Amino acid sequence: MGFGPPTRWSNGKVMKLGKLDIDKPLIMAPMENVTDAPFRAIMRRLGADMVFTEFTSCEALIRDIAKADKKVTIFEEERPIGIQIFGSHIDSMVRAAQKVEQFAPDFIDINAGCWSKSHVSRGECAALLKDLPHFEKIVQAVVKSVSVPVTVKTRLGWDQDSIVILDVAKMVEQVGAQALTVHCRTRNQGYKGKADWKWLEEIRKKIVIPLIGNGDVKTPQDAKFLFDLGCDGVMVGRQAVADPWIFQEIKEFLKTGKIPPIKPWKEKIKICLEHLQLSVKYKGEAHGVITFRKHYSGYLHGFPHAAKLRCDLMQMINFEDIRQTLDKIQGWNE
Ligand SMILES: Cc1cc2nc3c(=O)[nH]c(=O)nc-3n(C[C@H](O)[C@H](O)[C@H](O)COP(=O)(O)O)c2cc1C
Repeated sequence: MGFGPPTRWSNGKVMKLGKLDIDKPLIMAPMENVTDAPFRAIMRRLGADMVFTEFTSCEALIRDIAKADKKVTIFEEERPIGIQIFGSHIDSMVRAAQKVEQFAPDFIDINAGCWSKSHVSRGECAALLKDLPHFEKIVQAVVKSVSVPVTVKTRLGWDQDSIVILDVAKMVEQVGAQALTVHCRTRNQGYKGKADWKWLEEIRKKIVIPLIGNGDVKTPQDAKFLFDLGCDGVMVGRQAVADPWIFQEIKEFLKTGKIPPIKPWKEKIKICLEHLQLSVKYKGEAHGVITFRKHYSGYLHGFPHAAKLRCDLMQMINFEDIRQTLDKIQGWNE
């Protein structure tokens, strides 16, 4: 009896990942020093269907380094969430995966995409794209060692002359990964050039596990384009910092074909303050305020004299001063 070709796990509408069934999921990309717990919680509230932790070193995790443990600590309001780990040693990756499983993520993601020299020189992250047999061993060993779904996030290849994503896609599926995210650039590109989305169509033909498209999604139209290419999920990184309402805008566009009007300032400032408050609660006032600074431009984009306002906010170190400054502009011109 022939079984025919395996069918796609997800039906082009609902993505299946472990116990999760999510309708056309829009996913917040993992971003080091950006997607901390406060930002993830806000993104979930503003429409992201799924989030990831920042990537965390398996070596730091297995040595119980407090900073690493904090990175993989998750809160109920963030779910569904994946914990992302990276490393080059199979044993360390297995032990780290087993450790983070105790933090009860909805899935564990293996980073095979970070391009930074400090990581690839140690055989971590995108360096795995240069050694597929080792990459395979890591994914296989991690899959076998935990009972939550394991997923992989990677790039097209090391450089334009070594695009290996089709082999990688088949490989990760064969060894039991349950979803694949592809940032459509090579390692050598870093963030240069434009993400080459055409590969997503080819990858789609090779695998039945969910495929998440990533790289340069900046508008609702971009997200629709990736779904139309056959992606089960679409991941957004930098644009969610530039425009924290991007997920809501994409959702509305997918539903109605229309882009919703820009949120009133009152709402933008309210969310900005809530986000800052979470940051202060999570990290303490000084660290919470300083690490929040990268978010002012997204929340205040388009505000008259935003540059001057941002400059003033950048100097402030007390939550109360910031609150009073932002309170003054609530309801501006509305
Ligand atoms: C500041 C920053 C930090 C990042 N950190 C991670 C990370 O921890 N793990 C990861 O898989 N990708 C990381 N990335 C890559 C993003 O997840 C994403 O693949 C990339 O930014 C392309 O998507 P975008 O064009 O929507 O931003 C990071 C990107 C940026 C800009």
